[in-house]
Amino acid sequence: MEDERIVGRNIRPDEDFQELSLRPKLLNEYIGQEKTKEKLTIFIKAAMDRGESLDHVLLYGPPGLGKTTLAGIIANELNVNLKITSGPAIERQGDLASILTNLDKNDVLFIDEIHRLNRQVEEILYPAMEDYSLDLIVGKGPSARSIRIEIEKFTLIGATTRAGLLTKPLRDRFGVVLNLDLYDEDSLTKIVMRSAKILGVSIDKKAAKEIAKRSRGTPRIANRILKRVRDYQEFHNELEISPKVAKKGLELLEIDQLGLDKTDRKIISCVVEQFAGGPVGLDTISVACGEEKTTLEDVYEPYLIQIGFLSRTSRGRIATKRAYDYLGLEYNIGNNNINFFEEE
Ligand SMILES: Nc1ncnc2c1ncn2[C@@H]1O[C@H](COP(=O)(O)OP(=O)(O)OP(=O)(O)O)[C@@H](O)[C@H]1O
Ligand SMILES: [Mg+2]
Repeated sequence: MEDERIVGRNIRPDEDFQELSLRPKLLNEYIGQEKTKEKLTIFIKAAMDRGESLDHVLLYGPPGLGKTTLAGIIANELNVNLKITSGPAIERQGDLASILTNLDKNDVLFIDEIHRLNRQVEEILYPAMEDYSLDLIVGKGPSARSIRIEIEKFTLIGATTRAGLLTKPLRDRFGVVLNLDLYDEDSLTKIVMRSAKILGVSIDKKAAKEIAKRSRGTPRIANRILKRVRDYQEFHNELEISPKVAKKGLELLEIDQLGLDKTDRKIISCVVEQFAGGPVGLDTISVACGEEKTTLEDVYEPYLIQIGFLSRTSRGRIATKRAYDYLGLEYNIGNNNINFFEEE
């Protein structure tokens, strides 16, 4: 299962507690994502100067890149309360209505997995976002009537793994749409160094870089690997995480030089061996490898595309020469005669 993997991007139950302490609280502690930070700095300042609520913000990007962290930071910077919930947790219109009527002026409401809100709930969100009012039906049958309630101005922060999963009317109501990218090696190295400091473990910069390289561009994975490598270091009574300790620890975790694990290797081999390198559709890959389609799309594919192993074309996914090289197989150009510039 995805959650059991050391390089899995989703949060694991035992990590909840420590995640809190590793989470940056202010924008200047948030590493990387420079464009996003720059925009937020400007929008937050402008909203505060005017004494108004910040416009609604949509954050999208693969799991573990810092969406929840950023929502917390925005609320801190605005100096307002943060209320956290998630799409699947809001079952009825009344649930959302009670959350919204309890917000104070300019508060932040964070809805994680906002693409999973049900239709009825989503519909009462529209006037709430636009006019800060709720249209509720009270009573039943012929005596039912609609009433309009005013609510405080607030900021909705929605998080989703892919913006395309949102309905258009919902997406259109966000004034600020921010896309979080996978992190580069430098940023991840800084994140590892920062986390090590918080955890009270000394680490060599080269060792931090080694961990960064194998973290699939994802801070949550970097932090998780750091903790396992620290276990290795403590077990062997080493004074610090040296590059050698990091390498040994990583070997034990069976994460290779590129940060790929068994499941990634299975996916690449599947495309190459069972489908002659593609093009092959995601549904077909999902059935052939026994991995859920959404997991493939949100977790594995972005990284395999980032490192140039898979390409997305109008006719499906194809394995590139790099993927063949990685598997030690010969690549025949013309294998999959496709147009590289077409996107799906
Ligand atoms: N820019 C950053 N700088 C430092 N640490 C970060 C940064 N982004 C994320 N982290 C760390 O990564 C961990 C995961 O971040 P977070 O929980 O915010 O991700 P997420 O995008 O909400 O993931 P999910 O989609 O699974 O909810 C946090 O514990 C935090 O410590
Ligand atoms: Mg989150």
